[in-house]
Amino acid sequence: MPVIPPKPAAPPAAAPDPRPDGAVDPARARDFLDRFHRETRAPGDPELRWQRIAEQIRDTGTYTHTSAELTWGARVAWRNSARCIGRLYWNSLSVRDRRHVDRAGEVAAQCAGHLRETWRGGRIRPTITVFAPDSPTGPRVRIWNEQLIRYAGYRRPDGTLVGDGRNLGITDLAHELGWRGAGTDFDPLPLIIEDADGVLRSYALPPDAVREIDLTHPDHPGFAGLGLRWHAIPAIANMRLEIGGVSYSAAPFNGWYMGTEIGARNLVDADRYDMLPAIADLFGLDTSSERTLWRDRATIELNRAVLHSFDAVGATITDHHTESVRFLRHVEREAEAGRGCPADWSWIVPPISGGLTPVYHRYYDDHDESTLTPAYLLDEAAGRRSAGLRP
Ligand code: ARG
Repeated sequence: MPVIPPKPAAPPAAAPDPRPDGAVDPARARDFLDRFHRETRAPGDPELRWQRIAEQIRDTGTYTHTSAELTWGARVAWRNSARCIGRLYWNSLSVRDRRHVDRAGEVAAQCAGHLRETWRGGRIRPTITVFAPDSPTGPRVRIWNEQLIRYAGYRRPDGTLVGDGRNLGITDLAHELGWRGAGTDFDPLPLIIEDADGVLRSYALPPDAVREIDLTHPDHPGFAGLGLRWHAIPAIANMRLEIGGVSYSAAPFNGWYMGTEIGARNLVDADRYDMLPAIADLFGLDTSSERTLWRDRATIELNRAVLHSFDAVGATITDHHTESVRFLRHVEREAEAGRGCPADWSWIVPPISGGLTPVYHRYYDDHDESTLTPAYLLDEAAGRRSAGLRP
């Protein structure tokens, strides 16, 4: 029987950290510039621009993107993200150019600004904030948190969990840095930021930057009594943006949620909020045997509650049926543009009702992840930091 390895909870390591004393590889810069000009038909002579870049690399070991290059690079990195089902709107990513910001305190303030700006009263706009690029000697700033907003996790002496079991490690680290969580199931973690001085500092997010949705159910009034909620904005903070040989180690980005992320994973995984037994209980489901499919039924009720609650307050969220159709439209559009669309079936297919969505019933182009660039990459060391582990 074939052995199928479990799906990793977080993306596995993509590439090692860039060489610590690495100058930018001119070939990568050249390749990026050529593709940028070919695809965007940007004004200006690419040869002149190339001479500038080559000179800059020779003199400083790196070069500075124009804002048009940066914007296109960040958008195409999204387009290249094989695990993302939401790429139809890749070309509308809003890019906040904060490349002049490299001090931890200011990065924290800009992250709060990012969260406020992307919210737009509920009409969430996909947004990235790009902080100071790495220098040839290494990153100038990085955010240790996996996402800008995550809930703390605590283990009680009796072994049971409070909060998000995914975040036990970084919660310990936040405590070491002097933060004190209230000890509820939904304590937003502080940002933990390291800048060029190598010191870790923690910054509580201002409450108005953390939009949260209380979960209610469209036809079970008792559901609210479970006290469930989730944050409205999923903003990945630990992936490195690589464009034309330049690394941006701190470049947090967000889209909007698909309901299943919350309703079939975050609140459901046994090592996280593990809510299915309580929901089954609330709905009076027969849990005496797996064959009653109580888990499936409870999951569907939870997913209804998630979508209903976001809709009720006018916060953008998508459902897996709609998003699957959109994704196939994206694949089609990419083909029309003469491009393949890298896609990882095991990440694209939603965690519930897979076979009910059209993305399930086909395979996707093979792609070589190591050559896809620009890209968002999760370095192994970044993954460790987000688990609260010092290198
Ligand atoms: N799955 C992650 C979470 O539940 C978020 C990943 C990004 N998702 C998105 N819709 N952009 O927090």
